[in-house]
Amino acid sequence: MKRIAVLTSGGDAPGMNACIRAITLTAHRMQMEVIGFRHGYNGLLKREYQPLHPGDVVDIIQRGGTILRSARCPEFVTAESAEKAARNLDNMHIDALLVIGGNGSFKGAEHLANYWNGNIITLPGTIDNDIAGTDGTIGYYTAIDTALEAIDKVRDTADAFERIFLIEVMGRHAGFIGLNSAIGSGAEQMLLPELLEDGEVNLEQIIRHVKVTRKKRGGCSYIIIITEHLYPGGASALADKLTAEMGVDCRPVILGHIQRGGSPVSMDRVLATKLGAYAVEAARDGKHLVMIGEQNGHVVEVPLADTRTMEKPLDPYLVKIQTDFFDLVKNPS
Ligand code: F6P
Repeated sequence: MKRIAVLTSGGDAPGMNACIRAITLTAHRMQMEVIGFRHGYNGLLKREYQPLHPGDVVDIIQRGGTILRSARCPEFVTAESAEKAARNLDNMHIDALLVIGGNGSFKGAEHLANYWNGNIITLPGTIDNDIAGTDGTIGYYTAIDTALEAIDKVRDTADAFERIFLIEVMGRHAGFIGLNSAIGSGAEQMLLPELLEDGEVNLEQIIRHVKVTRKKRGGCSYIIIITEHLYPGGASALADKLTAEMGVDCRPVILGHIQRGGSPVSMDRVLATKLGAYAVEAARDGKHLVMIGEQNGHVVEVPLADTRTMEKPLDPYLVKIQTDFFDLVKNPS
């Protein structure tokens, strides 16, 4: 193995740079060349790339975003685009491609494998943590901390005005950021896709719970964490609805893309470094169509197809703790 390539694709995540760094340094130590394709799969199609030497990755471990830039590439579903990418990779004598990204990027990797003979290895890089086969994804831990920092600030003003706030967090269609930020912030209520009965937000239940909480505690702040895409019109529409139904002000806060930025926390830096280094070793050993992830603190190789078909539930114990706390408040003794 002489030449490997890496790209970052889909939503960027804090820690992607740490991963690029680990890949570059590990490959250099093994006397392999590293090529970084820019703007995700678009770079592969347009031959937009840069060589990566150890000097290029100095002082990037602490930086959010990705020095290779990222992008979505909707056209990377056609046979023509995968054939073109395969041709470019062959012409550049690339032996293995490492893809750092989320589910969409993994689909692209599987698609490319139908047309290219090189080795393909993926690394889970997304704040959503919605990839099965790994306990955590690169960027997820930073996103939780970023959300918590913001929610703590909202709590201060919510307390001062004894207001209800509805805080929308990212996660696409998964409640991992929502659950952890609800637990970490002591939010009174959480609305997560995995926990909705019949897929519907139960307004009556929320209103009842607000009333019981206020009866017990007196005037107080009340924070609801909601995952994006859960309610038609989002948190703003739901806040309007709750305000109208309760006759009490409910303010929406949409945390949005701040959750994707910032310096990666230690968990993300270490995870990214570990997975990046291991992915290069896996490439050297001829591994193909595997995701490098982490389970119970150990690096694992997971068949890429399994990451698509396996379930990744929320931690039931965390859900229970938070639900028990709700019940204590709901049914005060
Ligand atoms: O997958 C990461 C993510 O930030 C999701 O949480 C969110 O739904 C989506 O990307 C937003 O994507 P974009 O930045 O393209 O709007």
